[in-house]
Amino acid sequence: MVKNATYLILLSLIFTSCASKKYLMEDVKNFKKENHLSTSKDFMITSQGHYSSKAAKEVIDKGGNIIDAMAAISFVISVERPQSTGIGGGGFLLFYEKKTDTVHAFDFREKAPLRSDSKMYLDKSGNEIDRKSLDGIFAVGVPGLVKGVLEIHKKYGKLKRADVLKSAIDLARNGMPVYEELRRALKGREKVLCKYESSKKIFCPGGELLKEGEVLKQNDLANTLERISRFGEKDFYHGETMRKIVSTSKKYKGLLTRKDFRKYNVVNRRPISGTYKNLKIYSMSPPSSGGVHIIQILNILENTNLKKNGPYHPKSIHYVSSAMEMAFADRAAYLGDSDFVKVPLKGLTSKKYAKRLFDKIKENEAFKKEDISKGDAPAYESDHTTHFTIMDKEGNTVVSTQTINGWFGSGLVAEGTGIVLNNEMDDFSTKPGAMNLFGAVGSKQNLVAPEKRPLSSMSPTIVFKDGEVKLGVGTPSGTRILTCVMQTILNYFEYEKPLYEAVAMARYHHQWRPHQIRFDEASLSSSVVSELEEMGHKVKFKNLGCRIQAVAKEGDVITGVSDPRGEGKALGF
Ligand code: DON
Repeated sequence: MVKNATYLILLSLIFTSCASKKYLMEDVKNFKKENHLSTSKDFMITSQGHYSSKAAKEVIDKGGNIIDAMAAISFVISVERPQSTGIGGGGFLLFYEKKTDTVHAFDFREKAPLRSDSKMYLDKSGNEIDRKSLDGIFAVGVPGLVKGVLEIHKKYGKLKRADVLKSAIDLARNGMPVYEELRRALKGREKVLCKYESSKKIFCPGGELLKEGEVLKQNDLANTLERISRFGEKDFYHGETMRKIVSTSKKYKGLLTRKDFRKYNVVNRRPISGTYKNLKIYSMSPPSSGGVHIIQILNILENTNLKKNGPYHPKSIHYVSSAMEMAFADRAAYLGDSDFVKVPLKGLTSKKYAKRLFDKIKENEAFKKEDISKGDAPAYESDHTTHFTIMDKEGNTVVSTQTINGWFGSGLVAEGTGIVLNNEMDDFSTKPGAMNLFGAVGSKQNLVAPEKRPLSSMSPTIVFKDGEVKLGVGTPSGTRILTCVMQTILNYFEYEKPLYEAVAMARYHHQWRPHQIRFDEASLSSSVVSELEEMGHKVKFKNLGCRIQAVAKEGDVITGVSDPRGEGKALGF
């Protein structure tokens, strides 16, 4: 009771200070406690979907465990956020298993088709073919989500497959009203969604995009999920669903074959790990760049005292963004699928190397563009993908980021399946130096090759202190993922902000190219901006698009925060 009262006072303090604290996002005014913040002693779920969080609770109520909850969310969120993720996509997942004190990392990222090659997005003169890696069948990598989720569930779950798929089937069958974020994404992909008959039938019936409030029913998807419920991954990789996807690919002269599905494998990887002061951090290893660079940036920052100046002092921003900039220059040069190319993981995450990079940062002067390397500005940006975090009272933790890449992936639904196929192939470099959807520059390390996985930024992350799990965190938003996760860690541990504030605070991002710091809108006073500009930084205001889903264990209380900037639900019970 007393604790609750203290909490409410704390909350109202946060609210009343919103207006005066520029660094808390404006959207926070629309914050609804029952959705975005929750505390509990037993179980906590944060996801970007109301149906998804509730479905996870239902399987727990049925006697399921954290992995059953994970499987339920993964399938329901596929239905609830068809713009962001789905069974036509892939993802990464970290699972801290308390019993064995182990952090498992699973890679169910899409793979390039066997018939792909490094020049597939170039014309005869070596120029990139406009949107070939983004729209339609050539953008599609072999999906991994179904195999990933089901393999993990088979190994660690308690309930039957049918129990964890039920809510997703029901939601697809019964439908749900189109919400504002979904409508925005539909509008953003109108051209391609209203072009393919199979996509049009669901999202653009009779040639009119679904409007906000109209009901989206996904009957074909319900049937596909039912088959998966009965036959498991066999259906998706060897059975009817596979045949339907391959036949859609054939129709559009795409590359996917039965063999691609037969050969698809989930990889149990070693997570990347590092320390920041007294914290131990685990995150996703390649083919994600996320974990490597979160650790690299924190290693660089360990050499300075951020706490002394606070999070929005120009000096703090200068050091943090310069560290980001150097990390992204390395990302462009060294990162790719480590099953195919050598990635100097030890070097990139070593404290010694970080110190050398730190020493390059001048106290009052930004790097000049040419100081680090060459590149150009990106043309296009977006915010999709999804992340969820779950924790139970023992400390078992699941963090998973799942995606079909851009809004509605390739825009192409595999005929008769309701599955929106991903456009993950765009995360490869179409040629060395070229940029992807998120403006990330790649080298030959990240060129397309058969069965290779495209480089990612997705960063499901778990933080420990004194051997105890303290925080599970992750987010969507392309290259911004890793910097948003890193700042949430700093806000919570270095600046000691309450979890809600640590998530709601404005964030910023530097990715080397473009040569600028990008800030969430509504953040920073003009004097801070002028000081940064005097140091030579270019400052741009544009929301980063991150939607952090975080769960923290504070003594025997578990706190969940679903980023107040977007749809989502923190659900404790
Ligand atoms: O793997 C990646 O890094 C991207 N495909 C993630 C895409 C994403 O987060 C989209 N949201 N903005």
